[in-house]
Amino acid sequence: MNIFDILLVVPTQYTLAFTNLGTKDLVSLIHPAIAVILVFPIIGIVSNFAWQTRQRRLAIKDGKKSKIPSVVGREHVKLGRWLTGSVVGVNLIGLAYSIVYKNFIINFKRDSLDTNQAIIITLIFIATIASFIMLFRAQPKLWRGIFATLSGMGLIILGAQEGVWRLSDQWYWSHYYYGMGVSLLMIFSLAIIEDIYKDRSNRWRNVHIMLNCFALLLFIGQGITGARDLLEISPIGK
Ligand code: HEM
Ligand code: HEM
Repeated sequence: MNIFDILLVVPTQYTLAFTNLGTKDLVSLIHPAIAVILVFPIIGIVSNFAWQTRQRRLAIKDGKKSKIPSVVGREHVKLGRWLTGSVVGVNLIGLAYSIVYKNFIINFKRDSLDTNQAIIITLIFIATIASFIMLFRAQPKLWRGIFATLSGMGLIILGAQEGVWRLSDQWYWSHYYYGMGVSLLMIFSLAIIEDIYKDRSNRWRNVHIMLNCFALLLFIGQGITGARDLLEISPIGK
């Protein structure tokens, strides 16, 4: 291909550089790209700090001196907050893509879009994001509980909409169910931060460890099922 061919071909392509993919496919890649670039590295950092926090606490409990600095706990929580934000963020982007492209736009083209329903779904998106932001700001236990419940409910209601690829008959390897699972677990972790610190019996701490070790397994599953879905769900094309 010489320079003249390139000058002719590039502007006439619907999207640059791709043979089969169209703009809608590129939009669908925003979600996996953010997950790979942002979420998974944060999972690594959070897990590393989690391990150090535990090692330090157990060493001090046994009366030994720990070489691990005391900030690891705080750093784990700081990055943990970022993890919760980014996981719920990519979840909402994934849901928004499916709902907009595979429900709103398809039904609009078929003249079968229920406008009232579309408005309500959009409002639920806004309400979910608002309660999630409030969860980060809320201090009293009651409000943390309320905003965590509202954020979780919002995600579940949005996930139940037409267009979302749930794979319900094979829930045990469904990217959707794993994604909802990790999002709810991250929201729960955020909601119980104060309880972990205040509880002298370490009950909340142990609950947190058990649930989030399970979350780690779900995250691995999320990487595998997400990569599978990139192959499984056919590109919409140009
Ligand atoms: C992959 C996800 C996560 C894993 C595997 C994980 C695991 C752990 C572990 C092993 C500990 C140390 C417990 C001990 O002292 O024995 C810990 C502490 C803690 N985690 Fe997480 N965690 C995760 C995510 C989060 C998130 C998202 C938050 C909140 C936003 C969070 C908040 C906390 C808090 C407040 C502590 C106590 C820290 C301290 O003692 O200074 N964690 N976590
Ligand atoms: C923490 C990480 C992730 C979460 C919470 C998450 C969550 C979700 C959710 C809730 C959906 C909507 C369900 C649907 O309509 O299919 C979705 C869709 C999807 N996700 Fe993820 N995901 C994550 C990571 C990934 C990764 C790493 C990949 C690929 C490498 C990926 C690829 C996809 C694909 C291909 C879809 C289907 C989009 C479509 O309907 O065309 N996801 N994800």
